[in-house]
Amino acid sequence: MKRLWMLLPLMLWAEEDFISHYEYGEMLYANPRGISCMQCHGKSGEGQTIVEYRDTNGKEALRGSDIRLNTLDEMINAVNSYHKVMPRYYLTEEEVKAIYDYLQKKNTVYLSELTESDTIQ
Ligand code: HEC
Repeated sequence: MKRLWMLLPLMLWAEEDFISHYEYGEMLYANPRGISCMQCHGKSGEGQTIVEYRDTNGKEALRGSDIRLNTLDEMINAVNSYHKVMPRYYLTEEEVKAIYDYLQKKNTVYLSELTESDTIQ
């Protein structure tokens, strides 16, 4: 019994560490280096329209892509390279992993439904 008490702080610490990793990811997704991923990739990474405009082709829309199915490696690459629209962030791998884990957790239902329907086909 005495030994269990000694383990308690460790268990609490582990729990807190997990929660803060999620919150850390949430915070980073919402506001990394001042430009939010959310503004372009939507609340949960599902993608959204950034802006609509009209040019010689008529009505056009600039969209942030759906990033829910991107792997961690793809995310690290995307965040650390130059694009036409998306800014380069210089986030560490740990920071990108926190964002990745946050999106995985937020999309648990979507991702599990996807795997289920994949096996039916
Ligand atoms: C200003 C809008 C904008 C912001 C802010 C932004 N992105 Fe993007 N992102 C895009 C667009 C648009 C693309 C498609 C590639 C391109 O043309 O830039 C993209 C591509 C990606 C891809 C690759 C998707 C693929 O098709 O392989 C990932 C992953 C990604 N973004 C993650 C992020 C993360 C994580 C953040 C925040 C740290 C972020 N983006 C911030 C607009 C944005």
